[in-house]
Amino acid sequence: ENTINASIVLFGATGDLAHRKLFPALFQLYQKGQLQENFAVVGVSRKDFAHEEFQKIVAEAVETHSEADDHDALKSFSSHFYYLKMDVTDFKSYHDLENLLNQLDRDYHTGGNRMYYLAMAPQFFGTIPGFLKSEGITDTPGWHRIVIEKPFGRNLETATELNEKIQESFDEDDIYRIDHYLGKEMVQNIQVIRFGNAIFESIWNNKYIDSVQITSSETLGVEDRAAYYEKSGALLDMVQNHMLQMLMLVAMEPPGKLDTKHIRDEKVKVLRSLRFYNEEEIHENVVRGQYAEGSLNGSSVPGYLDEENVAAGSKTETFVAAKLFIDNFRWDGVPFYIRTGKRMKTKSTEIVIQFKQGPMALYRANNVKHPPNLLRIHIQPDEGLSLSLNAKPHGDNMNLLPIDMSFCNNCQNEVNSPEAYEKLISDSLLGNATYFTRWDEVALSWEFIDSISNAWSKENQVSPARYPSGSMGPKEADELLEKDGFTWWDPSNLRRS
Ligand code: BG6
Repeated sequence: ENTINASIVLFGATGDLAHRKLFPALFQLYQKGQLQENFAVVGVSRKDFAHEEFQKIVAEAVETHSEADDHDALKSFSSHFYYLKMDVTDFKSYHDLENLLNQLDRDYHTGGNRMYYLAMAPQFFGTIPGFLKSEGITDTPGWHRIVIEKPFGRNLETATELNEKIQESFDEDDIYRIDHYLGKEMVQNIQVIRFGNAIFESIWNNKYIDSVQITSSETLGVEDRAAYYEKSGALLDMVQNHMLQMLMLVAMEPPGKLDTKHIRDEKVKVLRSLRFYNEEEIHENVVRGQYAEGSLNGSSVPGYLDEENVAAGSKTETFVAAKLFIDNFRWDGVPFYIRTGKRMKTKSTEIVIQFKQGPMALYRANNVKHPPNLLRIHIQPDEGLSLSLNAKPHGDNMNLLPIDMSFCNNCQNEVNSPEAYEKLISDSLLGNATYFTRWDEVALSWEFIDSISNAWSKENQVSPARYPSGSMGPKEADELLEKDGFTWWDPSNLRRS
């Protein structure tokens, strides 16, 4: 019943995202039968390709970037792909698109349903929707949805301009702003863990929780993306979107219903309660770092300043750590520590809920309190949950032994979780916008991020703190927690070797 009839227009069809993520995701939906006979994909870019050439490229990309090796299936899948060379800034190009789409509507019985996926340079995000509407492409009787990749603006002002442009042609309900973290299995699981377990939800507040840590570390450096990254940095690249999204899901109130509107309403309220800092407080509570040379898995890697296309003396941050507060009834006084960076020790995303100690620590080893209880939500690479408790070791000594109760979703080899993009594309084709960002969320997150980037741009003489590649960030990030009597928990692992 979830079979989809539609044509998908993919702007940016020769780009990296299309090859690595979107074609493999579409193929998965095909293998699962969600896409069957009645769909067609039109790849658009400036280059010249014949349909057949493009179909080959698609099949090869799926083989390279996923484990697919069923050649018959790949062949029949890629036969649904068409190619169109377009100058997206020229209205005449859209007439070719319209002709092709009308043809495909007839050949594939799409019902006139059309999804426009913008996976290309953001300067065209505003232009394309306008032409889609003015040239009548959105006039067919089916549904018309637009999917927009990041970055959605560079600050509140540019995001607002962009949004106004898109909303001239598409209703908010038909705009699907992608944050791929929202498509991750364990990010979607946060609400289930919280609202499906009374034992957690009843202590999910400032009476019992001491602090929350959200870490998303990467081992990759800037790779070949300096042209983009130099203007963005970790604050815009990771914090404005992925980190704040995870924060919202951890901190939100239970929604009245599990539908798109209720969930997004509760998420937005978290942002409304996020404490804004003045410049001095930003200086104290937000750490910027940049990777220096160092070593990863035994090989030495260059520092950010020596990467290709990075400006001499660049002050772009590749790491951010921050202490945030959500000033509401539930979270009053509970620090939320977030950190993210490139070229760190491990690739891992983890949320750690640290519970308060009991009123009197009866069990002390050498006068040191026993370790706190932690609930860890493992987002990636392992997907699961672990709860650290204290128990007595076997035998008669009364020392405490920390033990872990854990559950891993993807640790057995046969389990292959759907990729974030597969879920998100499926949701957008089915018209479920829950795991996409609504405009008010995006606007509020920019407002908060702008307050930090404005403060940073005033201190533009100050360089970010350097951290060696292969470490967990600059010492300033450790000091941020030590001041409060906390330390970062190292990313952990659910696989027992
Ligand atoms: C993207 C950023 O949004 O997220 C990249 O632009 C980053 O710089 C990536 O590497 C991380 O995503 P994931 O899914 O690998 O954690």
